[in-house]
Amino acid sequence: MTTEDILVAKDVMAAYGQSTILWGVDFKVKKGSITTIMGRNGVGKTTLLKTIMGLIPVSKGTLSYKGEQIATLPPYKKARIGIGYVPQGREIIPKLTVFENIKLGMEALGSKKAKLPEEEIYALFPILKDFRKRLGGNLSGGQQQQLALARILVSDPSLILLDEPTEGIQPSIAFEIANVLKSLCKEKGISILLVEQKIDFASQLTDYYYFMDRGKMLLEGDKESLDPQEIRKHLSV
Ligand SMILES: Nc1ncnc2c1ncn2[C@@H]1O[C@H](COP(=O)(O)OP(=O)(O)OP(=O)(O)O)[C@@H](O)[C@H]1O
Ligand SMILES: [Mg+2]
Repeated sequence: MTTEDILVAKDVMAAYGQSTILWGVDFKVKKGSITTIMGRNGVGKTTLLKTIMGLIPVSKGTLSYKGEQIATLPPYKKARIGIGYVPQGREIIPKLTVFENIKLGMEALGSKKAKLPEEEIYALFPILKDFRKRLGGNLSGGQQQQLALARILVSDPSLILLDEPTEGIQPSIAFEIANVLKSLCKEKGISILLVEQKIDFASQLTDYYYFMDRGKMLLEGDKESLDPQEIRKHLSV
């Protein structure tokens, strides 16, 4: 690895019980960049993010983050060292208000006392300011996605793992989210590992991509080499 890489996975295997899902995954995320993982339903994309986060154990292989081996760290420690996870389906707490949901993200900081950079969050997602007191469960899918991102941003992450942010949301909000993700990288130097099946969304954003198939990386390349036609072909097999 080089100091340019924030996350490096080598030959990572993971399983649910006896059922192996990741069969030796290799990939890297460069600091301050957006790396996208594409691939059909059920190939192991979410499993990979959960494995990075420590929600599923690494059964073989290595994971390093900022040069440290992290494969055996529990999820709360990973959160404290700056890995933020936005799960597929967003997992907003429906009975808490928007503000309370955002505050939950602070818990990842542990004893580190940080002021909630509320104004910064609202500058990125103005709708959350208007809906501050609304219940999370009453937001649209797109607004919940913005809330899920806000909740992770207050934990001050260096790396965000983002699982299918555009699933079930309107194109106009997807566009807004894409702009926020780009500015997080460019202006704050945050690195993003994005799982995304929408090729158009991914290709406008990503610096580097991987295409995953049955628990392994099948293709990879920088954005110039990303050929939507080829990806579509693989997605349709
Ligand atoms: N909790 C679980 N226990 C056992 N098997 C699981 C569990 N969760 C997922 N799987 C299986 O692991 C495989 C990979 O699932 P995963 O959710 O990682 O795929 P994915 O690429 O994220 O799919 P999608 O695009 O639909 O989100 C699938 O065969 C799935 O059925
Ligand atoms: Mg998934």
